[in-house]
Amino acid sequence: MNILILGAGGREHTLAWKLKQSKKLTQLFVAPGNAGTASIATNLAIGVNDFEAIKNAVINHTITMVIVGPEDPLVNGIHDFFLNDDALKAIPVIGPQKAAATLEGSKDFAKEFMMRHNIPTAAYESFTAESLDKGYQFLESLKPPYVLKADGLAAGKGVVILKDLQEAKNELKSMLVDAKFGTASTTVVIEEFLDGIELSVFVLTDGKNYKVLPTAKDYKRIGEGDTGLNTGGMGAISPVPFANDEFMNKIHSQVVKPTVEGLKIDNLPYKGFIFIGLIKVANEPKVIEYNVRLGDPETEVVIPRIKNDLLEVFAAVANGTLDTINLELDERTATTVMAVSGGYPEAYEKGKVITGIENVTDAIVFQAGTTLKNDKIITAGGRVLAVTAFGQDYKEALKKSYENIAKLNFDKIYYRKDLGFDL
Ligand code: AMP
Ligand code: GLY
Repeated sequence: MNILILGAGGREHTLAWKLKQSKKLTQLFVAPGNAGTASIATNLAIGVNDFEAIKNAVINHTITMVIVGPEDPLVNGIHDFFLNDDALKAIPVIGPQKAAATLEGSKDFAKEFMMRHNIPTAAYESFTAESLDKGYQFLESLKPPYVLKADGLAAGKGVVILKDLQEAKNELKSMLVDAKFGTASTTVVIEEFLDGIELSVFVLTDGKNYKVLPTAKDYKRIGEGDTGLNTGGMGAISPVPFANDEFMNKIHSQVVKPTVEGLKIDNLPYKGFIFIGLIKVANEPKVIEYNVRLGDPETEVVIPRIKNDLLEVFAAVANGTLDTINLELDERTATTVMAVSGGYPEAYEKGKVITGIENVTDAIVFQAGTTLKNDKIITAGGRVLAVTAFGQDYKEALKKSYENIAKLNFDKIYYRKDLGFDL
């Protein structure tokens, strides 16, 4: 098979690394990719939302399957674009159609879906500029802290949590009236604050059958002890030690099953990954969000733990025969630590030469914000390199991730040294 992966991050390098091991693979393309994907596949200089250019590439390179990494093209309807084009409709796309991608594209839609299908989640109400006063009243009825969520995609920045009622009211006004997040905050979801520990569950579905993939926990804050600004993710651990069988059974029966059945009932075709963000509150799972793709850096620990030929698994998703796949998992723990550019998630410099990747042993370096310049790998983004290692438990795996990340260097490299501190 000739495969095209869309995206440019650590997630896509990990998917490329895994698919590269498939017996079914002929040629592998990544658009636009990074220096890591360039080392194992052919990068195509095409943006993930340039559907016409993607169409041309698919035809020119006789691509037989497309795997979509990020949410943007899914929410913009890339899967529908393929289905509506005579030249493309026979080519499977891994990732849901636009209607189901709205689970990530609109928090209000996701909340309504959860309510309709009795999926446990925080109590909430949605507001627009017209109902600003009702929003103020709703905030007054809640206990702090206050959770405000821009309805639409806001590059991971659309959730604001505030302790002070007046600040929460000001924030609501700035989102709704001053369009703080542009059209993404035309509607705002205000919800009950959930106090607990977070984890993510990944599900792969063909629309009828599904497989629960390994759990993972990511570390979102830039600073040690989970302090400072939110980032795309500073590292991840899989499996999550506190997700024992009893708790996973609850997640399965209360969340995963009703989610996949809800998609069927609502006639939302879905072939792809469902990323369920959960908070464990008093031993009960509550959904905080759906994403319609894999997480980054969660992919860097989830995918390496899957032993199957991933292309066979994807073919089963495309054919609607995922029930025939016996998912085999590596029982060990995988951890990844992300090296970022100094200054990230605020302003940072790019173009720094990266050294030391060849010295890494017993760990895998997945590249995120990197590019090639005169045969040198240089930084090209905030999150730069993810170092994944295995161990019998998370402590042993982390030790190896840390031993190896210390061998990497670029000007102003930064990484958190405390992952796992909360476990
Ligand atoms: P989201 O973009 O929905 O993942 O939200 C970003 C982060 O905000 C989550 O990872 C949680 O840490 C936090 N969060 C979201 N919703 C809630 C909630 N209802 N209660 C507490 N924390 C929340
Ligand atoms: N690591 C969180 C995400 O991919 O959304």
